[in-house]
Amino acid sequence: MSDIVLELQNVSRIFGEGDAQVKALDDVSLSIRRGEFVLIVGSSGSGKSTLLNMIGLLDKPTSGKVILDGKETTTLNDGQVSQYRNEKLGFVFQFANLLPDLTVLENVMLPQQIQGSPEDIRQNAIDLLIKVGLEDQINKRSNKISGGQAQRAAIARGLVNRPTIVLADEPTGNLDSVTAGKIVKLAKTMAKELNQTFIIVTHDRHQFPDVDRVITIKDGKAFSGEETTMEITA
Ligand SMILES: Nc1ncnc2c1ncn2[C@@H]1O[C@H](COP(=O)(O)OP(=O)(O)O)[C@@H](O)[C@H]1O
Ligand SMILES: [Mg+2]
Repeated sequence: MSDIVLELQNVSRIFGEGDAQVKALDDVSLSIRRGEFVLIVGSSGSGKSTLLNMIGLLDKPTSGKVILDGKETTTLNDGQVSQYRNEKLGFVFQFANLLPDLTVLENVMLPQQIQGSPEDIRQNAIDLLIKVGLEDQINKRSNKISGGQAQRAAIARGLVNRPTIVLADEPTGNLDSVTAGKIVKLAKTMAKELNQTFIIVTHDRHQFPDVDRVITIKDGKAFSGEETTMEITA
């Protein structure tokens, strides 16, 4: 298994036509390794969400290649893309997006694709809920838990298929700073314990003091680190 889990090669994404054209991503190349905890930062409108949509196979580049876990994805058809997305990616959003009428456990089991008996599937979800500190909340309805607990459940759900990459778009954006800090620590612990790659988009760099790598997006271009001095070229 290759150590590189994601490669973007000269990815551009253009919206609109003619005078209204916007180059949301401009020739972005980068590669991410297994187990890396990566932060994507940049001001509003810089291209962060567009980049995350490329990595998450939710949108295709206008030009360039997106290679996820060794497979070039831009030539896959829609059905193949969704299949591959479910297999390889876990998502955590700004709002936990749990289904309110289901229990915490049912929510975490929902995307489960792992082969196995119903009991194995259930146990896998329970194991993750224990890891994220929700052992007491497993059978509660999702609308009866706090925002921080919901985001813990969302992280467990993001991990349930043992994805190659967990993608998170502003995962702490809806939480107070103390709760946000705990969620950040939890994600970091999960990353190390499971050798799990995380790619997190945030506008709030300070909430993530300890990360392996920061990628800054500015005007659709990707730069290594927080100083926008060195454009990533490989
Ligand atoms: N679907 C779209 N249609 C037209 N323009 C878009 C679309 N999505 C994003 N853009 C433009 O692309 C640029 C980058 O947007 P986005 O990736 O959402 O930035 P960020 O997430 O960093 O705020 C912005 O100028 C935005 O207006
Ligand atoms: Mg955005």
